[in-house]
Amino acid sequence: MSELLIFNILLITVFVSAIFIFTILFFIPAPYGRHIRKGWGITLKAKFGWFLMELPSLAIVIILFFAGNRKMNLPAIIFLIFWTVHYFHRAMVYPFMMKGGNKKFPVLILVFALIFNFINSYLNGRYLFYFSQPYPADWLFDPRFIIGTILFITGMFINIQSDYILLKLRKAGEKDYQIPYAGFFRFVSSPNYFGEIIEWIGWTILTWSLAGLAFTLFTVANLLPRAYSNHKWYKSKFNSYPEERKALIPFVY
Ligand SMILES: NC(=O)c1ccc[n+]([C@@H]2O[C@H](COP(=O)([O-])OP(=O)(O)OC[C@H]3O[C@@H](n4cnc5c(N)ncnc54)[C@H](OP(=O)(O)O)[C@@H]3O)[C@@H](O)[C@H]2O)c1
Repeated sequence: MSELLIFNILLITVFVSAIFIFTILFFIPAPYGRHIRKGWGITLKAKFGWFLMELPSLAIVIILFFAGNRKMNLPAIIFLIFWTVHYFHRAMVYPFMMKGGNKKFPVLILVFALIFNFINSYLNGRYLFYFSQPYPADWLFDPRFIIGTILFITGMFINIQSDYILLKLRKAGEKDYQIPYAGFFRFVSSPNYFGEIIEWIGWTILTWSLAGLAFTLFTVANLLPRAYSNHKWYKSKFNSYPEERKALIPFVY
């Protein structure tokens, strides 16, 4: 079996599994964070779980860049920088900023996430640095690259700003939840997810790739049902929860 055939099978698998994940997660919220509950097997410390879960996405794409044939191609170098900035923060910074004391994370979720992260990083890194036609240097002036980059950076800003607003609500070791009011929380309950989705839509446009599109659809499949569950959870936990706030998309949903 050729590598290209394996690549295409994995790509189709991600598209198809996104549909399943989307449906399942509306009924069964992934059991971590505020939705953690008993009955999901052994757990490990949440900080460590996040670090282990996100590290392969950082490492695999860097390895595939050096294993590929685009080391002197400027658009490829810029794709690598964008991906690395996101995953360096997500794997090496964010987990160590988390509070919540000894909060746990199910190993089962870690395993599912690792499988996806391995496949997703392989698809994006291998496509961009090996299977695609080399992107010409003037791709950097293409409207797709410019619009995608604006969305990617804007999404990353909203995502990181929102995550840090949440992290600042707690003192070290605290586990309780509060109502966040700052930043984009004025509009939605999960602006970190909104930013994440915008970021990967931007990635899809700036790389103009099916691997990027598969990642974006999987992210939506994951985060849209979770945003719905988070919104319901906030409303049931806090009587004073702002009425006008939506779940994920400002003024819409
Ligand atoms: N690309 C993808 O498919 C994907 C999938 C999942 C997550 N992510 C990203 O990973 C990041 C974390 O995701 P997440 O699901 O853990 O986000 P989250 O539920 O919003 O939680 C983020 C952090 O803030 C804490 N927190 C949440 N709400 C709080 C509140 N009201 N008061 C005090 N602390 C609060 C959480 O603590 P607890 O852990 O104690 O709840 C956690 O440490 C986000 O940026 C998200 O976009 C991406």
